[in-house]
Amino acid sequence: MIDKIKSLRAELETAAPGTLEDVEALRIKYLSKKGEIPALMNDFRSVPAEQKRELGQAINELKAYATERINALRDGLGQTAGSADATDLTRPSSPVRLGTRHPLSIVREEIIGIFHRLGYTIADGPEIEDDWHVFEALNFPPDHPARDMQDTFFIAKNPDMVLRTHTSSVQTRVMTTQKPPIRIICPGRVYRNEAISARAHCFFHQLEALYIDKDVTYSDLRQTLMYLARELFGEDTKIRLRPSYFPFTEPSAEMDISCNICGGKGCAFCKGTGWVEILGCGMVDPNVLEACGIDSKEYSGFALGMGIERITNLKYRVSDLRLFSENDARFLDEFTGTHA
Ligand code: DAH
Repeated sequence: MIDKIKSLRAELETAAPGTLEDVEALRIKYLSKKGEIPALMNDFRSVPAEQKRELGQAINELKAYATERINALRDGLGQTAGSADATDLTRPSSPVRLGTRHPLSIVREEIIGIFHRLGYTIADGPEIEDDWHVFEALNFPPDHPARDMQDTFFIAKNPDMVLRTHTSSVQTRVMTTQKPPIRIICPGRVYRNEAISARAHCFFHQLEALYIDKDVTYSDLRQTLMYLARELFGEDTKIRLRPSYFPFTEPSAEMDISCNICGGKGCAFCKGTGWVEILGCGMVDPNVLEACGIDSKEYSGFALGMGIERITNLKYRVSDLRLFSENDARFLDEFTGTHA
């Protein structure tokens, strides 16, 4: 019997079937129910007990080898047939896995889209900026207490240069270089010297809007805010304006929207008030217009500014700010297929 096993193995080793049908014939010969290997297994029952161990092992090995060899022969022929496919230019290509858009980009693009529909264009400015554009022109004189609110990073070699603490510096750049009517938005990154935690970061993103023309009034601002809130959070959203203070706007306000998580009933997110704050705004202070060379008797305007992280948290309930800058693929994958 051992000779039979050896000769079957030798035959398999040298077998060179030319077609898939020949491979199938080989499989039938060796492995089908009435094939050589099942026949051996049958004979195995009557071998003397002392040979069982050796023969059993040899048969098992032959079976494993035959299965592997026949599969390899089949694959080899399949591949040759497959190479003809490779030149089939009508075959669909392999799928390309698209990356995901960052949630902050999704929200930024959405807000840009809203202002775009209102006729605003995008303005840009440097992140390393001089004191005049970030503070002075915006009515923050030196030693003004409002400067303390902004935990500024200064450039060590030149204390006149700072990392911008708000995108309002882009407003200054536009007002000093363009003539009204001005209708711009400035999305961008800003920096503040804060300890990094779930609720604060040393950099984040803002988006401001500025509109300056003849006869721009507070009701224009209000209407724009209403449109923005409803486009962003849905038709039923209510807005509320609370008096506030910013050096560059007078009067100034902060806008709350009805909490989009509980619908205004009161929940943990809005601390039971039914309202959440989303932006600062106001009528551009005449001092600012004058500092930038715009005649405040002829022109008036409004400005508003918001944190993109804040809006994103409200829309997608991201509870830890650090997730936005850690590049954890598990977090980013959650936004697959989400488009502005
Ligand atoms: N610059 C303000 C801040 O960073 C936000 C802001 C408030 C921007 C009112 C504005 C505005 O344009 O009108 O806190």
